[in-house]
Amino acid sequence: MAAQDSGSRRAVMVALVLVMLTCAGGMPVSRQRLEVQKHLKRLNKPAVKSIKSPDGDIIDCVHASHQPAFDHPFLKNHTVQLRPTFHPEGLFDESKTASSKESKAITQLWHLNGRCPEGTIPIRRTKRDDILRASSVKRYGRKKHRSFPQPRSADPDLINESGHQHAIAYVEGDKYYGAKATINVWQPRIQQPNEFSLSQLWILGGSFGEDLNSIEAGWQVSPDLYGDNNTRLFTYWTSDAYQATGCYNLLCSGFIQVNSEIAMGASIFPVSGYHGSQYDISILVWKDPKEGHWWMQFGNDYVLGYWPSFLFSYLADSASMIEWGGEVVNSEPDGEHTSTQMGSGHFPEEGFGKASYFRNIQIVDGSNNLKAPKGVGTFTEQSNCYDVQNGNNGDWGSFFYFGGPGKNSKCP
Ligand SMILES: *[C@@H]1O[C@H](CO)[C@@H](O)[C@H](O)[C@H]1NC(C)=O
Ligand SMILES: *[C@@H]1O[C@H](CO)[C@@H](O)[C@H](O)[C@H]1NC(C)=O
Ligand SMILES: *[C@@H]1O[C@H](CO)[C@@H](O)[C@H](O)[C@H]1NC(C)=O
Repeated sequence: MAAQDSGSRRAVMVALVLVMLTCAGGMPVSRQRLEVQKHLKRLNKPAVKSIKSPDGDIIDCVHASHQPAFDHPFLKNHTVQLRPTFHPEGLFDESKTASSKESKAITQLWHLNGRCPEGTIPIRRTKRDDILRASSVKRYGRKKHRSFPQPRSADPDLINESGHQHAIAYVEGDKYYGAKATINVWQPRIQQPNEFSLSQLWILGGSFGEDLNSIEAGWQVSPDLYGDNNTRLFTYWTSDAYQATGCYNLLCSGFIQVNSEIAMGASIFPVSGYHGSQYDISILVWKDPKEGHWWMQFGNDYVLGYWPSFLFSYLADSASMIEWGGEVVNSEPDGEHTSTQMGSGHFPEEGFGKASYFRNIQIVDGSNNLKAPKGVGTFTEQSNCYDVQNGNNGDWGSFFYFGGPGKNSKCP
């Protein structure tokens, strides 16, 4: 009874506060609060079980059929594919190569405190503060425009406008049906919370205009998005050049997850140390030739799920460009450069154990075979800030070292 009383009293109080805010011209405040609450409810689905990660995250184990993907109107009647009909050739050879001895296996930090039951998927719970750090509720979980590396144009106006800087390797001029890479994992230092540093692959379709299609996966440090400096596994997709569609991880409906062990947006553990142990993750994204969906695999064991083909225009057919590498945001004004690091924060010349790398970069060709890419190009806007150097050998196949410290005597 008492609880009910105080409940209804609270409701009255809330109503009063709302009226007061409205009268004081504070409508935006109360409206924003309601909007945030509604968005949290949309994102955080009822959990079968919740696991508290040592890094402060809460991982909700959500029944697979209740995941955010099914809020999408086109997915109401979608029959979930529990596994791909096809794996590109050569996929499971990786663990047997000599190079995997040099670097060690990696997992996610929250595994220390539990696992999700079969039939559920792990989702990183979004907190009120996560949304409040975004420029608006609508922008939460989304990239700003024009953050894609554009190797050929390298238009300085565009570069300065967006503040995004890259050091990448890429291939173009063919039809691609997937890409793979083994990516060295680090925890780069971020100068300001509104900057980020990431290492990823891009599967791109269309032109760098209004309707670019992109599927992206890798690791990132992004204080604004996650509220800390941890290195996290992430994905991204868009079908209109980062305008109205797409998002990070499961922060909008689109990606259908089938895996109960890996949470998108969760911390990767451990990370590599300068002169210390090196850790890397493998990521493969490929198009199922039968269903047309784009699948993602993490490591050799975890098929995470897929982006349904209907989300895309160009990528509904194939990709026209693949990119691998690093990106940071430079938010310093007036020609100053941020000291936000890319990769390990060291230049490629320093090599293994010091500089960050991508190894065994591969593409999936028209016959659905994984192959070393031919004619790999490299691109960076300011090599004195962040650089990239590629190479080839028997052990690492096609590889490159990349990254840098940002601000330094040659990058003021
Ligand atoms: C889903 O199925 C129901 C019942 O068969 C049908 O009425 C509805 O139009 C379908 N929705 C979509 C988006 O296909
Ligand atoms: C993240 O790192 C920056 C320095 O790079 C530090 O100022 C900030 O306090 C750190 N943030 C958190 C949440 O640890
Ligand atoms: C872009 O910024 C760099 C340094 O940050 C500066 O040297 C250059 O003049 C700028 N370019 C344009 C076109 O504004």
